[in-house]
Amino acid sequence: MKILITASILAADLGHLQEEIESVEKAGADWIQVDVMDGHFVPNVSFDASDLKGIRTKLPLDIHLMVTNPAERIDAFVNLGAKHITFHAEAVPKEKDQIALVKMIRDKGCTAGIAINPETHQDAIHTMDLDMVLCMTVHPGFSGQKFIADVLPKMKEIRQQHPDVMIQVDGGIDEKTAPLCIAAGATNLVSASAIFQAKDRAKMIAKLRET
Ligand code: DX5
Repeated sequence: MKILITASILAADLGHLQEEIESVEKAGADWIQVDVMDGHFVPNVSFDASDLKGIRTKLPLDIHLMVTNPAERIDAFVNLGAKHITFHAEAVPKEKDQIALVKMIRDKGCTAGIAINPETHQDAIHTMDLDMVLCMTVHPGFSGQKFIADVLPKMKEIRQQHPDVMIQVDGGIDEKTAPLCIAAGATNLVSASAIFQAKDRAKMIAKLRET
C-alpha cells in the first residue's frame, strides 16, 4: 500500500495559514489534516470550521474530530470541503452509533475513519465497514509530544486482522518513529511539528515516506 503523508496544521504558523498550506503542498504532502478539539474530549481547543473559511487546498482535507459530539460538527466540515472525517471510538462507544456516524459521513460524500487513543483496545471499534483506523500514538490534545511505542503491537494486530484497511498514525511521528509505524502496518502518517518545524519540509516529507 502506498504510504501517505498527512500534514497537520496544528503546528503551522496560523497567522499565515494559506501560505503554510501551500508550502506543504509544494513539499509533497498527500493530505492536510485539521485537528478539531473541543476543550472537553481533550484538554485543549483548536480549530472549528468557521476558523478555516476561505482556506484553499488542492489536497484532500482530513478532519480529525477530537470532540465529545462529533455528529454535530460534520455538516460544517463537509461544507468546508472535507474529503475525510474521523471521529473517536471513545466519544461514540456504541456499535449502532458508530455504524450510523460512518454512514452519515459517507452519505455526505466523505470517507470515514474511527480513531482510538493509545490505551484503547481495537475492539472499541465495532465496525470495520469504514475507510480508515487512526491509531493515536500520543494522548490527543497537543502537538510536539513524545511517541508512545506501546501502540505498535496494537497496530500490527489491526494490520494482521484487516490487511486492506488504511491505518493512520498520529502523534510524535518523525524520521525515527515513522519507520517503526510503517513496519507495524501504518499506511498514512500524520505529522505536525516534524513537518512544520523542519528547515526543509520537502526533505522531511520524503524521509517520513521512506520505509
Ligand atoms: C494530537 C494531534 C496531532 C498532533 C500531532 O492531539 O491529533 O495531530 O498535531 O503533532 P506532532 O506531529 O507534533 O506530534
